[in-house]
Amino acid sequence: MEDNVALDTLEGLRDIINANLESMIEEQCSIHGEVAEVSGRILLAGGKRLRPILVHLAYELAGGENIDEIMPLSLASEFIHTATLVHDDINDEALTRRGEKTMHSLVGQPKAIIGGDWLFVQGFGLGGRYKEEVVDVMANYCSKLASAEFSQLDHVLDLSTSPEDYLEIVKGKTAGPFAAGCKGAALVANATDLECQDLFNFGLELGIAFQLVDDLLDIRGDERMGKPRGSDIYEGKMTLPLIHALTLLHGNQRIRLAEIIRDFDDSLFDELIALLKSAESLKYSEILINNHLERALQHISKFKDCEAKQLLKHVVDMVQNRHS
Ligand code: IPE
Ligand code: MG
Repeated sequence: MEDNVALDTLEGLRDIINANLESMIEEQCSIHGEVAEVSGRILLAGGKRLRPILVHLAYELAGGENIDEIMPLSLASEFIHTATLVHDDINDEALTRRGEKTMHSLVGQPKAIIGGDWLFVQGFGLGGRYKEEVVDVMANYCSKLASAEFSQLDHVLDLSTSPEDYLEIVKGKTAGPFAAGCKGAALVANATDLECQDLFNFGLELGIAFQLVDDLLDIRGDERMGKPRGSDIYEGKMTLPLIHALTLLHGNQRIRLAEIIRDFDDSLFDELIALLKSAESLKYSEILINNHLERALQHISKFKDCEAKQLLKHVVDMVQNRHS
């Protein structure tokens, strides 16, 4: 499939997802008023819709043919994702997300906590329509996500955080939701156990790569991210490039890096980048990203060639080359 055809097809799918999200919010606003309005505003502010897109494509790859059957699960993944972003932004005191004001900066923290809960409940209302196995997959990933967020908080400014600690957190907060979305979709399509497992692993590897890219984008800084560069470092998040450089550097460089991480501000940015480059930590992350994406592709290699498979390969490319 030509690149531009794949892009158009994915764009079309995103439009369908957005239209469904919009009509659901419109209906909810007439019932629930302000909480639906402000939460809906955040939900509809943009976003790549990567999780729902993956749900649709995994469903099709697993043999599903009825878009109406998978739509609630696809929308659920975006509602739950947005709920976690709202709560995450409160904890991180982030002012912008998706290039727009965050919910707590619009309506204050108490309402934002409730708005996040509202989005969660909407997600579960949609996902709860499926058979028990699918609901279990969703409940399980939400529980793991919460536990990973706890662990991430415990590791704030913990300079002894290991790559293994980091990977566990990433699996919980990002890769788990990708994996669960793909597996849940396969279950809805009545795929075999092996196919469900392959799609789970595909999502897991893609999700790990996605988070590694996210961490690099934060360090490199790109206004298309819709949030200021270095947000992770301000928040004391121990991302892989930092963990790697802290392990590789020694002497004065190691001491200086620790000082910069502990007391970061934007004027230290260039110095931080220079230290990460001298430890080749950005390169290390890039190599890992490619390895995880390669493994993601292997997990879908046994499925027969079809449009959904081509599109999933395109999504893999997009994760590798994304800027936002
Ligand atoms: C951001 O996810 C939060 C992470 C888990 C890294 P996305 O980058 O997919 O955010 P949106 O939905 O496109 O805004
Ligand atoms: Mg955050």
